[in-house]
Amino acid sequence: MYRSNENESVFTWAAPPLKFGIGALDEVGAELSALGSESCLVITDPGVRNTGIPDRIRDQLIAAGIKSDVFDGVAVEPTDQSIDEAVSFAREREWDSYIAVGGGSAIDTAKAVNLLTTHPGELLDYVTPPIGGGTAPWLPLKPLIAIPTTAGTGSESTTICVIDFLGLHLKAGVSHAKLRPTLAIVDPLTTVTLPSQVTAASGMDVLSHALESYTSVRFDAKPAPEDPMKRPAFCGSNPISDTWCEQALSLVGKYLRRAVMNGRDLEARYQMALASTSAGTGFGNAGTHLPHANAYPVAGAVENYQAEGYPAMPMVPHGQAVSATAAAVFRWTYPSDPGRHLRAAELLSGRTFTATDGADALAHVLSELMADIEMPSGLRSFGYGEEHLATLVDGTMKQTRQLAVVPRPVTRDALTHIFRESL
Ligand SMILES: [Fe+2]
Repeated sequence: MYRSNENESVFTWAAPPLKFGIGALDEVGAELSALGSESCLVITDPGVRNTGIPDRIRDQLIAAGIKSDVFDGVAVEPTDQSIDEAVSFAREREWDSYIAVGGGSAIDTAKAVNLLTTHPGELLDYVTPPIGGGTAPWLPLKPLIAIPTTAGTGSESTTICVIDFLGLHLKAGVSHAKLRPTLAIVDPLTTVTLPSQVTAASGMDVLSHALESYTSVRFDAKPAPEDPMKRPAFCGSNPISDTWCEQALSLVGKYLRRAVMNGRDLEARYQMALASTSAGTGFGNAGTHLPHANAYPVAGAVENYQAEGYPAMPMVPHGQAVSATAAAVFRWTYPSDPGRHLRAAELLSGRTFTATDGADALAHVLSELMADIEMPSGLRSFGYGEEHLATLVDGTMKQTRQLAVVPRPVTRDALTHIFRESL
């Protein structure tokens, strides 16, 4: 708690302004006018466009006298190629603001478009080392309003944008405070048409954001930074993030099954949107650790797997990739803080656990929930076997942003054990 010579003594917390509630979507035109915008590109994917939401937004912009267009070519799980297409489209005209509407894919694409239309170079220049050059954006970005429609990503709150680099066969992220949206508008009504398997995967992503932040290394167990003005966006668990994560865990435990079972259950949709926003507010500061680090190679190296409810192409949806190794990870991280792991299991299940339940308590609660909402139960479902373990471990070892907040020292042996237990 107090200052020491070796360890960090300061944590940071930031989040964008938020508008949350039924009907919040109808206020986007007024919000953009208030920002002084005269031209805005709405960025979305074809599935979300079909819901009519992006065109409802465009109608509001037209009514507010703001020139606008809709780019609906966002790829689910965006790639460097799909981002190039979005950037080319954006460069055809001059925009003074952006709106992202959709899941994490649309919001992350909009962040990348905003970065690359205000800065020179290519995406890889800005990706966290060792995969990319780690250049920090130095110019102002344009206002970006993020409107999540999946109750999962948390991207509306965070500084992060994740891209699948096709040539490298792995996913990697850009993270910088300038990428955080200017405003998040969360309207739970936008989530009622999501297919049940998308709801399930998005909900597991919310859960994992909260659990990973909650169990990440404590901010004051990390070494003090050399330059206090260059603290990483992920500072480790801290009392402010913990509060948001606890709320998210308890809401996911109560409402995710209901939202998956009946998409029209408005109370469940409302509470899951609140869970997602709470988790985003927590993890955007504390950070995610191994389940997310593992998810990048799991999603990046897939060859044939296709997921129900998603576009017909080989891909592991982010929420499925994240939850695939979660039980094994939390069994492994349990010794770092048993009390916190047991508390998380209690918040999720509403049951009481003691130290005699040990590392299995949280793993068991997770497996129960995943079975109830019919999530894939192991990496073999995605086509991985013993022969892929080394590739998966290699991919995780490159995710330095997440590895920095894992609560135990990460070794190749530990990762091999976690991936093997997750097959
Ligand atoms: Fe995530």
